[in-house]
Amino acid sequence: MPEVIIPISMFPDATDKEQIEMSTKCPPIKKLPKEGEQCRRLSALSDKFASEFFHGPQFFARAPGRVNLIGEHVDYCGYAVFPMAVEQDILMAVAKNTTEKLNICNIDECYPKYSCSINNFIINKDQPAWFNYVLCGVKGIKDEGDIDGPLTGLDIVVGGNIPPSSGLSSSSALVCATALAVAHSHCLSLSKENLAEICARCERHIGTQGGGMDQAISFLASPDTAKVIEFNPLQATSVTLPPGATFVVANCLAPMNKASNSNYNCRVMECRLAAQVMAKKAGLAWREYQKLGDLQKALGWTLPQMMALVSDTFEARPYTKEEICKLLDASSEELDQVTLTENTRHIQLFKLHDRALHVFSEAHRVWEFKKVCDQQGDTALLELGKLMQDSHRSTQLLYECSHPKLDTLVELSRGVSLGARLTGAGWGGCMVALVQDDDTEAYKKMLQERYFSQEPSAQGRDPSSILFSSRPGPGACIFVQ
Ligand code: GLA
Repeated sequence: MPEVIIPISMFPDATDKEQIEMSTKCPPIKKLPKEGEQCRRLSALSDKFASEFFHGPQFFARAPGRVNLIGEHVDYCGYAVFPMAVEQDILMAVAKNTTEKLNICNIDECYPKYSCSINNFIINKDQPAWFNYVLCGVKGIKDEGDIDGPLTGLDIVVGGNIPPSSGLSSSSALVCATALAVAHSHCLSLSKENLAEICARCERHIGTQGGGMDQAISFLASPDTAKVIEFNPLQATSVTLPPGATFVVANCLAPMNKASNSNYNCRVMECRLAAQVMAKKAGLAWREYQKLGDLQKALGWTLPQMMALVSDTFEARPYTKEEICKLLDASSEELDQVTLTENTRHIQLFKLHDRALHVFSEAHRVWEFKKVCDQQGDTALLELGKLMQDSHRSTQLLYECSHPKLDTLVELSRGVSLGARLTGAGWGGCMVALVQDDDTEAYKKMLQERYFSQEPSAQGRDPSSILFSSRPGPGACIFVQ
């Protein structure tokens, strides 16, 4: 295999202690696995790379997908989330080339190849293409990686086993793997937090105003533990889940691609508008508030107090854009400039009460969930299940981001699991259920019989890719020979 790039050699003078600190701060550089499924996939990537580029890869980058246990649609409001990394991941074989070109291809040939200048490209928001996520990752490091001079060209082959459009964050994993690959190939040692924040920002070039959870867990995950992730500053705290239960993930098979319509951004804007109207009512400079979390900080109130404020401020009905302008004493043009994104300026009705109520109550549930895990009491699993159930109802009824198929899965799980809820952005994709260890096989069998055997799009698919239990997996890394 050709030259291997190890950025740690950039710091030959670092003491042993500094080297160790660096390796825990930065995504680890690991030896290629010698056996197992990952070894098989890496070797298939290598073969594809050789047949595509006529030389071998120099290293591999890996970034996992995630399942969020609780805390949905709150990250972009500044609130903590509770995800764990899944074992499924994006793997990427990479080598520098001498042409200043970025050549991207996918092991799955249904994804078209793409080549462009690595230093000069456009991410076309109007044309959803898989490689746009690779371009986002490159752009993140190009703009924020502090590299002197132009980037060196790269040859890349991508392979992944995170089901796309399923709410398990395959797109963010692609962005993260790319950013890590570009950083590594340019000998940059960036901390996991730094990489996560860069990736959260650069993925927004796709057009969606994501909050940062997916990128954070992809870098900050560690095996066998879920994480409470807080933002501003980004911080991950390991949480030990009570023993005796397993998280089961089931894909309802209604595809969800949040970049393909404005549903997701519309929710982000509804929360932003709710924050601004409440800020204005409280006599604050509303233009400075983009997040419900920032408003809460400014007021110094508790989450239950914020929930009460929502009910005092708004009626539980949609508000027209015109009404909102009146409440803010702003013109429609100003609202377009200060608050709304390009793809939400056409929206005329916004639900402020329900969306804000969901956010504050869901943010509260995250901390309740953590408290139950920390206390590990006798009824811990039942309490966690109840919180998950409440979370689902809130996303379904207040946030309206579920899907009838997801609701069916959650309904079927009632009584058989301890609790179940949609995970990820919603509008399709996956559900996560908390199931007693001993009941897991019977639970999966029930879903297989009552849902998947009757679901046309499940036929011919590998059942383990649509219904699986997952242990918390490790975060992003580089593999070298
Ligand atoms: C997507 C976004 C995340 C988060 C979830 C919903 O996965 O990328 O930032 O907002 O939706 O919780």
